[in-house]
Amino acid sequence: MRWAVSEILPGNDFMLMRRLFLLVCLLQGSKVMAEPYIVAHRGASGEAPENTLPAFELAWKQGADAIEGDFYLTADGEIVCMHDADTERTAGKKLVVAKSTLAELRELDVGSWKDARYAGTVAPTLAEVLATVPEGKKIFVEVKCGPEIVPRLLEDLAKSGLKAEQIVIISFKDDVIAEVRRLRPEYRANWLTALKEKNGKLLPTPDEIVATLKRTNATGLGIGFKEVDESLVRAVENAGFEFHVWTVDDPAVGSRFAEWGSRSITTNWPKRIREALETGGK
Ligand code: G3P
Ligand code: CA
Repeated sequence: MRWAVSEILPGNDFMLMRRLFLLVCLLQGSKVMAEPYIVAHRGASGEAPENTLPAFELAWKQGADAIEGDFYLTADGEIVCMHDADTERTAGKKLVVAKSTLAELRELDVGSWKDARYAGTVAPTLAEVLATVPEGKKIFVEVKCGPEIVPRLLEDLAKSGLKAEQIVIISFKDDVIAEVRRLRPEYRANWLTALKEKNGKLLPTPDEIVATLKRTNATGLGIGFKEVDESLVRAVENAGFEFHVWTVDDPAVGSRFAEWGSRSITTNWPKRIREALETGGK
C-alpha cells in the first residue's frame, strides 16, 4: 500500500492523520508501513558504528522501518558493507576496498573508532546485512562502486529470500540504476543526488533531475535535504517518481519533509525522527 496523506491534508491535520493511521495499524496487527518511513542511515549510526551489524540491529530495535547501507565489490568478488573507498577512517589502517579481499578487510576492527564497547566489530557482507531485515521491513542498498557489482548483487538479493517490495537499490551512479532496472524491473531504484550552488543557480535543476530519472528508468529520487524546497518534491512526484530525502537529523526538518510528502526520511537517529513525526516535530 502506497499513499501520501500529505498530498491531501495540511500540516497539523497530516500529523493527526498519521498518528491515527499508526494507531489503527497497531490495533489491527497490520504490517502496513505508514509514510514517510524512517530509514536508518548506515544503521543507527548516530549511536553505533556505521555500516556494522550492531548499527543495523540497533536500528531495528529502535523501530526503524528500513535500514540503509553502503556496499562495494571486493577484489575477490564479494560484497562488503562500507561507506568509504578505503578503510582508513573507520579502521585506522588504509586498505583500498576494491583492491582487497574480503578476508583482508575482515581482519580490521571497524567498531572501536566509534566506542570501545564495539571493539572487534568487523565489516559485514551484503548477505549478512540482508539477513537482519525482518518481515515487513525494508533495506536501501546503496551501491558505491560501478555496475560491475550488479550480477553478484542480484544473486545475493535473490538468495536472501526478501520480497522485491522490501528492497530499494540506491546509487549516485546513473549507470548502476539503469542496469539494475534493466535486469530486475521489479526492484525499486532511487537515483541519488544533492543540490549544489553554481554561479548563483542550484544544480541539478528539477528538469535535469527528472530527465535523469526518466533516462535511467529509476522509480524515484533520493536527495540530500539541503536547499530542497517543496516545489522540487512536487516536480518529482508530478513526473511520476517517488521522492525520498537524506540525511535528516533535525526533527523540525524531518517534519517539514513529512508534510511535503517525502516517501521516506533517512536519518542517523531513527528514534529521534520517529518521535518527532509522532509529536509533530516538537
Ligand atoms: O541515503 C543516501 C545517502 O546515504 C548518501 O550519502 O554519503 O551517506 O552515502 P552517503
Ligand atoms: Ca549511503
